[in-house]
Amino acid sequence: MSVLKGKHIILGITGGIAAYKSAMLARLLVKAGAEVQPIMTPSAKEFITPLTLSTLTGKPVISEFFTANTGEWHSHVDLGLWADAMVIAPATASTIGKMANGVADNMLVTTYLSAKAPVFVAPAMDLDMMAHPSTVRNIALLRSYGNHIIEPACGELASHLVGKGRMEEPERIVARLEEFFSSSQSLAGLNMVITAGPTYEKLDPVRFIGNYSSGKMGYALAEEAARRGANVTIVSGPVSVSAKNPAINVVKVESAVEMLDATERAYGAADVIIFAAAVADYRPAEMAGQKIKRDGHEPPTLQLVKNPDIAATLGAKKRAGQFAVGFALETDNEMDNAADKLQRKNLDMIVLNSLRDSGAGFGTDTNKITIIDRNGSRTVFDLKHKSEVAADILDHISSLYHK
Ligand code: C5P
Repeated sequence: MSVLKGKHIILGITGGIAAYKSAMLARLLVKAGAEVQPIMTPSAKEFITPLTLSTLTGKPVISEFFTANTGEWHSHVDLGLWADAMVIAPATASTIGKMANGVADNMLVTTYLSAKAPVFVAPAMDLDMMAHPSTVRNIALLRSYGNHIIEPACGELASHLVGKGRMEEPERIVARLEEFFSSSQSLAGLNMVITAGPTYEKLDPVRFIGNYSSGKMGYALAEEAARRGANVTIVSGPVSVSAKNPAINVVKVESAVEMLDATERAYGAADVIIFAAAVADYRPAEMAGQKIKRDGHEPPTLQLVKNPDIAATLGAKKRAGQFAVGFALETDNEMDNAADKLQRKNLDMIVLNSLRDSGAGFGTDTNKITIIDRNGSRTVFDLKHKSEVAADILDHISSLYHK
């Protein structure tokens, strides 16, 4: 039985000659057991009739914002939430440009902008259009939002020119979707909570105690997890990076106490939780109500109190089926310290970065990690870009979690 059985799939069809292949794609998806809702752009209807699509899928084709004779409004928001996946095949240069830049002048692009589900885009166009810098840039933008691009194949095109631009064959698009939902790296449908960034502990209304964490590692994990289909919530301290994938839910906090509170609220529904934040260990015992003055005053003595350990607090409450991952940033005795934290905080896996490795740790775009799991087994990785490190960490989580 196909993993697509029962899955809700929006099939977006745009106005290119390859639209004739969408009928086959709709048929194969329905055969695999998926519920398929077709959405056509106005120009798609010049290439294939709505009747073909509605007959194959058993659903009325949606194309306009409302049905003219009844005034019934089609909610792009409801559709976007209903979907387990959205597939746009064929995707013309025009639609790709609209998606990349938020030009919501039809039902397809509007639904795309509201969708929280993974999006698959199968471009189809002539080779010169495919190679144009504007198309290349727009496709790169879609990738940066976490969309999956199903690369067009090379071959003879409708213009009789030969080159890259043929829409991928329907069988292979279906295979790609099946792989997305079933591969060992899939996180489809998993609820994931990630803490990220530093915390700021206020001294007075204008000053704080903080640290150099950039949040890049936590956000890279969130982007990659969302791309693999997880429902991701980031509980984020103050950072300058932002989430690109619109499916990521970002909860902004400032202090450790706020971070604990927000993480605790998201924790109940979490299958996997990653503690990637650099939480301040201490906070000022009191916050001054007014700016602390310098003139005519002795230098103040700071009284500090301990912050809650978020990982340890929530690790202690971990229920069966939940998987917790921590980070350890160490300068000495790395392995033992990390293994000790894993036990103390009741984690299932810990990611060690050593400040002795250049290119690892705070602020950099790269990281060098060692993963230690509950059984004490260690895997050492090379220095890599944080997005690749995120993929390694998530591969490791998937393999341990699915065990
Ligand atoms: O004890 P240490 O700070 O080295 O532990 C690091 C791990 O614990 C990280 O995963 C970090 O996000 C988490 N942590 C936390 N709350 C704290 C301190 C650390 O969640 N107050």
